[in-house]
Amino acid sequence: DCPASVRKQLAKLFAESLKAIVPSEPDVVPLIDACVAKSGVKHADYQCNNAMSLWAKIKGKQTEFKNPRAVGEGIVKNLPPSEMVESCSVAGPGFVNIVLSKKWMAQSLQRMLTDGIDSWAPRLPVKRVMVDFSSPNIAKEMHVGHLRSTIIGDTLSRMFEFCQVESLIRRNHIGDWGTQFGMLIAYLFEKYPDTDEVNESSIGDLQAFYKASKLRFDSDPEFKLNAQQSVVKLQRGDPKYREAWQQICNISRTEFNKVYERLKIRLEEMPESFFNPYIPQVLEKMEKLGLVEDSDGARVIFVEGVDIPLIAVKRDGGYNYFSTDLASLWYRLNVEKLEWNIYVTDVGQWQHFDMVFKAFRRAGWLPKDENELPICTHVGFGLVLGDDGKRFRSRSSETVRLVDLLDEAKKRCKDALLERDNAKDWTEEEVEKTSEAIGYGAVKYADLKINRLTNYTFNFDQMLNDKGNTAVYLQYAHARICSIIRKSGKDIEELKKNGNLVLDHEDERTLGLHLLQFTEVFVESCSNLLPSVLCEYLYNLSEIFTKKFYSNCQVVGSPEETSRLLLCEATLVVMRKCFYLLGIEPVYKL
Ligand code: ARG
Repeated sequence: DCPASVRKQLAKLFAESLKAIVPSEPDVVPLIDACVAKSGVKHADYQCNNAMSLWAKIKGKQTEFKNPRAVGEGIVKNLPPSEMVESCSVAGPGFVNIVLSKKWMAQSLQRMLTDGIDSWAPRLPVKRVMVDFSSPNIAKEMHVGHLRSTIIGDTLSRMFEFCQVESLIRRNHIGDWGTQFGMLIAYLFEKYPDTDEVNESSIGDLQAFYKASKLRFDSDPEFKLNAQQSVVKLQRGDPKYREAWQQICNISRTEFNKVYERLKIRLEEMPESFFNPYIPQVLEKMEKLGLVEDSDGARVIFVEGVDIPLIAVKRDGGYNYFSTDLASLWYRLNVEKLEWNIYVTDVGQWQHFDMVFKAFRRAGWLPKDENELPICTHVGFGLVLGDDGKRFRSRSSETVRLVDLLDEAKKRCKDALLERDNAKDWTEEEVEKTSEAIGYGAVKYADLKINRLTNYTFNFDQMLNDKGNTAVYLQYAHARICSIIRKSGKDIEELKKNGNLVLDHEDERTLGLHLLQFTEVFVESCSNLLPSVLCEYLYNLSEIFTKKFYSNCQVVGSPEETSRLLLCEATLVVMRKCFYLLGIEPVYKL
């Protein structure tokens, strides 16, 4: 339910009308489209497009209508009176053009200014939602793919928080379990036979340590055997091995946290190891249901439409990524009672999740047909590419440390700030804060603005450009509006109480309409799990403000100053909500 969505409100109204003209078709869903999305429709804000399909349904039957246009006219005639609609007219074969009342629009905006934008938040039909995102692997690099997962997952979480779901879990499913630990621990004990010497600093750079131990593993069969035995000891809970494992994990965690701190990302860790004890019981249930079969000594599950089976237990009896995800999903459904489980990873893992979900459907643990309200969703994303069109890597080494990447974004912004004419007016703290807000915001926005399924090219020059569809441009637009209000010298709180907002000028009306469409765009963005939809809205908002409203409507010093300042404020409020949802910190002066 979402009373703030103009489209939904119109749909309610038109449902009445449709019911009145064709009582024989009570289930017709009103088709209401916003006209901005289509070119060519002038002088209408929305369109009701039911007449043509309704006509197809009733054509042969005895009705008062002779053609689709007559159905359209019937829709208009039977529309209940409403203060939101100014006028309706039928165009072409039966399109019903809707013009909103500008008085109603202005009042709705003014009410939002008083009640706050949270009054525009939609409600979701689910209460307990989990977003599994970021989820890097211990001792392996946290790569740009994880950065994408972190950025997209955080935004989706913010969206659900805005909808005020009862409980939103931001889950970090850290890969802290697996055979690589045998190798790492064996190498550690070989290097430091005296365990007292072992601590986080003795391991040093974990990635280098990982590489060195892998080299040993691949070249020395004796070491390999030792590594395999170490896994067994670790999994049995040998204290010495557990402790070494902890230390290794902590080094990685410290690294991960640096990224999260910079980006202000909140995550709640429930790592793979947590689910390890649940694996046997979940597999046993699946065995009992007859889902698991033997394949060459491995225990496997076949799922619908996939040739290869899901390997639940490896031939050596060990567990793998699949085993953990079977156990974790079981836990999420049965212990945490989550109603929507969202997994954010690269598209390459699509089949992995498809197979896990299908195995659960075979078990009857997920409904066979979950199109209406999905319980499990994989949110995939494309690759991050370098300028060469290949997978993103830095020149010096084969991997990119994410902290370095973020530091670089910040540094470039700082340099640009210090070169500005007004650089002297800035305190050191302002420079720091602003360059972080702009730099990190730019990295996030560059990722979020494109449809997540497409690959994107990581390019500092592009993302930090102050023209075009970038966070920097948006930050400028926001700061400029702030300065308009500052320059007026008026107290906005006072204006909100006593001022009057009107939308008489065409460009005021266009801006006002776009603001009012925030909720429906948000709903589209959230329900399709596509942050790019919200980015596009935000960019268009800045464009409409700058190129239409602010170019043609004088604000400060004009007779309409009060109303226009209120419109500026409404724009700021909506912009800031978008920024917030995208995890971008707004700047107030630039
Ligand atoms: N650790 C995995 C990776 O780096 C991502 C984990 C995603 N979550 C999950 N439940 N499998 O690719």
